[in-house]
Amino acid sequence: MTELLEKLDAYKKEIDAVTAENEKQVEEFRIKYLGTKGLVKSIMGEMKNVAPERKKEAGQILNEFKQFVETKYETLKAASTNSEHTASSIDLSLPADDFPIGSRHPVALMRNRIVSIFQRLGFAVAEGPEIEDDWHNFGALNLPAHHPARDMQDTFYVQTNPDWVLRTHTSSVQIREMEKGKLPIRMLMPGRVYRNETVSARSHCFFHQVEGLYIDENVSFADLKQTLYFFVKEMYGKDVKVRFRPSYFPFTEPSAEMDVTCFICGGDGCNICKKTGWVEILGCGMVHPNVLSNCNIDPNKYTGFAFGMGIERPAMLKYGVKDLRLFSENDVRFLKQFTGAI
Ligand code: DAH
Repeated sequence: MTELLEKLDAYKKEIDAVTAENEKQVEEFRIKYLGTKGLVKSIMGEMKNVAPERKKEAGQILNEFKQFVETKYETLKAASTNSEHTASSIDLSLPADDFPIGSRHPVALMRNRIVSIFQRLGFAVAEGPEIEDDWHNFGALNLPAHHPARDMQDTFYVQTNPDWVLRTHTSSVQIREMEKGKLPIRMLMPGRVYRNETVSARSHCFFHQVEGLYIDENVSFADLKQTLYFFVKEMYGKDVKVRFRPSYFPFTEPSAEMDVTCFICGGDGCNICKKTGWVEILGCGMVHPNVLSNCNIDPNKYTGFAFGMGIERPAMLKYGVKDLRLFSENDVRFLKQFTGAI
């Protein structure tokens, strides 16, 4: 037993003095002392020579020794990796490794642009559900059952409950905001909408819109025009011209569609504007008194304007996307092209 203790003391001194300058030397240490044919293993083998009544004590001593060697190994390992990385192997002047970052979706990019312009005019942002009931998508918007204008939009109905539809426009969110009963309202409502259309390069069964709504006392058509004019100037530059064409929407009276001078050809005529020099970008109008009444807002006290625009088309024009389907196919080669775009 004393012999064993002396031996261990000697080994401890020897091990204590070991230094390692690199990972290779650390590994040599591990093999020599802790490997399957290493010192610790062979000393453990000496247990069999210890008298039975001292086995317990000897076991403890050997275990302590083993731990001592392991701690030394860990210390050497930590020191060698640290020193290698700080002293020699790191060149701090090298540029950092690239790591892949995602990209924003072009539809999201366009939505954010639109939203940020209106936010500067004090519009807040709201969202509503994509599965709507008939009342919010149609009824409250002055489209009662069997109204012919319902055919303007090919609706997806939920099979188990024909009162539910996939919303055909974001105008449904107008109703949800007005129902809350907090006035005035100055709100922008972006979101996805659905229509039963054949999927092609130019139309899809789902797409995105941004709805705008402003309700207060004394809101006039002049406010509508000024607001939208501000928007297009911010969006397409100060030289852009706008024109309003009379139109029909059941939920606005009067209604209009707004065109801007073609931002591809500047108004000279190209195939985007079908040689007219104008591109239609949104529908708008003064909120119909029936719509206000449907939401318990007094149309004699309050007036308002609303507008709705698609997001995909301006995005296609801005980014030169020729096929609407690319937006929803999740092809990373397409999406990667928008890395870094804001
Ligand atoms: N909801 C209409 C559509 O999807 C767009 C629209 C037109 C919205 C006029 C409006 C509006 O708020 O006033 O075609």
